[in-house]
Amino acid sequence: MNSRFSFLFNYTFEEAEMPRRGFLKGMAGGSAALLGISQTACSNDDPILSLRERSAAGAIDDGKLWQQVRQNFPVTGSLVMLNAANLCPSPYPVQKAVFEMTRDLDSDPSFPNRDKYNDYREESRRAIAEYLGAGVDEIALIRNTSEGNNIVINGIELGRDDEVVIWDQNHPTANIAWDVRAERFGFQVVRISTPMVPESKDELIRTFTDAFTSRTRAVAFSHVSNVSGITLPAREICSAARERNILTLVDGAQTFGIEVVDLHNIGCDFYTGSSHKWFCGPKEMGILYIRRELSEMLHPSIVGVGWEGAVNSGAIKFETLGQRDDSRIAAMKHAVDFHNSIDKNKVESRTRKLAGLVKSELKRKLPGVIIHTPESEELSSGIVIFTHNNINLSDAMYRLYRDYRIGCAVMGGQFAGIRFSPHIYNTEEQIDRAVDAVVDMAG
Ligand SMILES: Cc1ncc(COP(=O)(O)O)c(C=O)c1O
Repeated sequence: MNSRFSFLFNYTFEEAEMPRRGFLKGMAGGSAALLGISQTACSNDDPILSLRERSAAGAIDDGKLWQQVRQNFPVTGSLVMLNAANLCPSPYPVQKAVFEMTRDLDSDPSFPNRDKYNDYREESRRAIAEYLGAGVDEIALIRNTSEGNNIVINGIELGRDDEVVIWDQNHPTANIAWDVRAERFGFQVVRISTPMVPESKDELIRTFTDAFTSRTRAVAFSHVSNVSGITLPAREICSAARERNILTLVDGAQTFGIEVVDLHNIGCDFYTGSSHKWFCGPKEMGILYIRRELSEMLHPSIVGVGWEGAVNSGAIKFETLGQRDDSRIAAMKHAVDFHNSIDKNKVESRTRKLAGLVKSELKRKLPGVIIHTPESEELSSGIVIFTHNNINLSDAMYRLYRDYRIGCAVMGGQFAGIRFSPHIYNTEEQIDRAVDAVVDMAG
C-alpha cells in the first residue's frame, strides 16, 4: 500500500487473506488484465491492446485499426453519434473497469476491502500525469471541468483593484463563475472578443496581449471553444501572460482526450478537463492540473476527509471532496490505457481528419452553408459548427435525431448553428450520412 496516501483511511491494513484475490490482481494489472475477467455486463470483449504495436509494425492498416477501435464501443447500429464535445460513450475496457469495481465495492464496502483503491487512485494519477505531460503531484482527480474551473476561480487571491481577462467564447458557465465571484469581491472581469473569423494565430494572441494591463492578475480561456470550435494558441498566450506575472487558467474540456496535450510545454498554471467528453473515460470524473509552485497559494473551496494529509501534497489538496466513487477514480487509468493502446497521436489525427471531412463535404454538397469554425488545422480541432438559411435551428437537433438517427448539438449566440463533433468511434460513411441528412433538411 502506498503509505503517502494512506491518510484517507485512518487505520492500517495487513495484507493478509483477501477475498477475490484474482479480481485484485486483475485491477492492479490494468485493462489488459481486466479483459481476462469474465464479464456479463459487456457484450463485446474484443481487446485492442496490441493494436498500436501491430499498427506500427504495419501488421494492420488504418482501416482495420479504426474498425477494431470502433468495435470497442457500444455505439453501433444506425445511430451516428457526433456529440463528443458534450458526452462520449466509454469503450468496453473502461465500462468493465467501472462495473467490476462497482460490484466489488457493493459486495464488500469494508475498509479492508476498499484499502486497495488508494493504490488504484495513485495508478490513475500517474497515468494521467504521464498522458498530459505533467508531474504526478500536479494532478488532482476531481469530478469535471466545471469543478476544476471553480476551484481555481475561487482559489486565487484577488483584490478590488485587480482585473481578470476572460474570452467571450469560453463555456458560458465558466464565465458566469467569474462574474459571480467578482460581484462578491469587487475585482474587474474584462471580457474580450476575438475576430469571428480569425485569420491567424497572431491575431488571436494579440487580442489577449492587448487586453493585459498592470492590473491583470489572471487570464482564463478555453483551449478550444465549445461555442465556435476555434482553437486558441495556448502556449503563446500562456507565455505572454507568464512574462507579465499573470496566472493562466486553460479550460481543456475540448482538448483533453482528443489533442496530444503536453502541459509543461503549454506552460499554463492551471488546466481542467472532463473524463466523460473526448477522453471516453468514466462519467463524472475530471482532472485539474496545478503548476507545482502554485498549489500552496491556491485557497481550497472544499475541505473533506483526508485534508490534513493532503494539504501539503500538491494538487491532491483539491480532491478531498468527501466520499468519492472509487471505481470511477480507478477507471481513469484504464481509459489512459485505452488511449495508449491506440496511440494518442493517432487519436488526434483521426478525429481531426473526420472533422475536416465534415467541413469539406458540407462545402461540396450544400451551397450556401456557413461554417463558423475555421478551416485551418491550426485554428480548429474536432468541433465543427455550421448553419444554413433553410435550416430551422430551433428543432434541428430533434429532427436530426428522430428522422435521421444523428446525435449532435445545436448552439446559440453569435455562432448559432448545428455542432458536429466526431470521434474515433465514427466512420467516413457516417460523416457522409450525417452531411446528407443536413442537405436533405436544408431541402
Ligand atoms: C469548454 C467547456 N468548459 C466546461 C464545460 C463543462 O463541462 P462539465 O459539464 O463536464 O463540467 C464544457 C462542457 O461542454 C465545455 O465545453
